[in-house]
Amino acid sequence: MTAGKPRVFVTRELPAGTLEPLAGWAEVEVWPDFQPPPPAELRRRLAEADGAITMVTDRIDDEVLAAAPRLKVVSNCAVGYDNIDVAAARRRGVMVTHTPGVLTDATADLTMALILACARRLPEAEAALRRGEWRTWHPLQWLGLELNGATLGIVGLGRIGRAVARRALAFGMRVLYWSRRRDPEAEAAWGIAYRPLDDMLPEVDVLTLHVPLTPETRHLIDARRLERMKRGAILVNTARGDVVDEEALVRALERGHLGAAGLDVYSREPVPPDHPLLRVPGVIALPHIGSATERTRRRMAELAVANCAAVLRGERPPHPVPEML
Ligand code: NAP
Ligand code: GLV
Repeated sequence: MTAGKPRVFVTRELPAGTLEPLAGWAEVEVWPDFQPPPPAELRRRLAEADGAITMVTDRIDDEVLAAAPRLKVVSNCAVGYDNIDVAAARRRGVMVTHTPGVLTDATADLTMALILACARRLPEAEAALRRGEWRTWHPLQWLGLELNGATLGIVGLGRIGRAVARRALAFGMRVLYWSRRRDPEAEAAWGIAYRPLDDMLPEVDVLTLHVPLTPETRHLIDARRLERMKRGAILVNTARGDVVDEEALVRALERGHLGAAGLDVYSREPVPPDHPLLRVPGVIALPHIGSATERTRRRMAELAVANCAAVLRGERPPHPVPEML
């Protein structure tokens, strides 16, 4: 390593060329494996680093930060940052940044894909066709929920929640929402309506989650709230697994109280293939691919690099996490 240049550890390969803004003035080390660096390795690499570009799979807790005395910035290549102990970072004078906005459309699109796939029972119908069970067109077979006229409940009307609202309205859905703050402008402009969470649940055909994972939102959707949902309703979660009590979700699906669940995120990731959620009928399970488009992943990496570079240059980064503002 060249003396004097800041050192940056990047925990995974990024889209080609996106590290270019650091070239020449920073020493960049990229973890070469497909799998994330194991915790001991992460600590070892960060011990000498001034900057870290991290993924949702990298747990940056106080122990990791304590072992990284030179660290000035943890630049998460994600909008969610529940993998980072932000309070500990603040105490230690380490900036934490994230990549909001650039992944909103991709994640909202995937949310709609899950809503549509659950509502129209796509995996079930496709699997039956492949098994040779499509023997005729039958007026009563594979009937699903029509989105036009159905009610969507949005939990968390932030960037992604709003992008989902706009899409759902285009499908003719009636849109209700619950969030920390009311948004009278969106209510007036789009004709969406606010409800307290417990009041909204019995009204919706589809509930979609878009809050960050925090101590307040952990198990926000628990057994009691699942019970309040309409029989046969659909739950879609592209936020974070722990926003839902997964054991309660399995029970609600097993006894047919919920009709289906579309999931992109899990309490434990990767979700083990023998997890009960993957055995209950009506679950569509994706491997955390909300932001997984070529364009979005490139833009996320560009933003993560810009955040990291700004801090190392002594400037304000474009996207500090809100707790750093
Ligand atoms: P955002 O713009 O910050 O939206 C979050 C919304 O939730 C905001 O309206 C926020 O209210 C609200 N909220 C926060 N805490 C709350 C609480 N305790 N109770 C009620 N409402 C609360 O974030 P975003 O960009 O839409 O992203 C949302 C989440 O999606 C991320 O945190 C991440 O976990 C997840 N995500 C997943 C994927 C994926 O690949 N599946 C991709 C991207 C994002 P305020 O406006 O008052 O802050
Ligand atoms: C992905 O899950 C993100 O938070 O960006």
